[in-house]
Amino acid sequence: MTVSLFILNGPNLDQLGTREPEVYGTATLDEIMAEVVTYGADRGVTIDHAQSSLEGEMVDHIHRAGRGEAQGIVLNAGAYSHYSYAIRDAVAGAAVPVVETHLSNLAAREEFRHTSVIAPVCLGVVAGFGADSYRIAVDALLHHLGGAS
Ligand code: DQA
Repeated sequence: MTVSLFILNGPNLDQLGTREPEVYGTATLDEIMAEVVTYGADRGVTIDHAQSSLEGEMVDHIHRAGRGEAQGIVLNAGAYSHYSYAIRDAVAGAAVPVVETHLSNLAAREEFRHTSVIAPVCLGVVAGFGADSYRIAVDALLHHLGGAS
């Protein structure tokens, strides 16, 4: 069975490359996604991805992927992670596992980033490994789905 995963990136992540490079690095989102898509393809995994800065649009993406269009979701909801109950509810209702993912180590940053309202309804959380966080999240999902590389 071919595994297909969906990666959803939230607000401001389209600014990677120039946005606070000391925190997030210098790679653009396109570069990071191209790398993770190749990583998946090398393992026979199809990875689709999208970015939106709009909360409702992100909810729609999670509904679509979460009802089985993908077998797992990697979600970097950006700042919405800290307060969006709408995204939390969409994740809670998804029929597939979701891995919350962040480039930065939230525990080492400002207090408001220490809380994720999404984490309790996720399979797990990956944070702090820069662009590698996405690959680690993909690996976590593959292990969970039993198709580990
Ligand atoms: C982030 C962390 C969030 O706190 C922040 O709002 C982001 C990026 C990360 O990937 O480290 O936009 O999700």
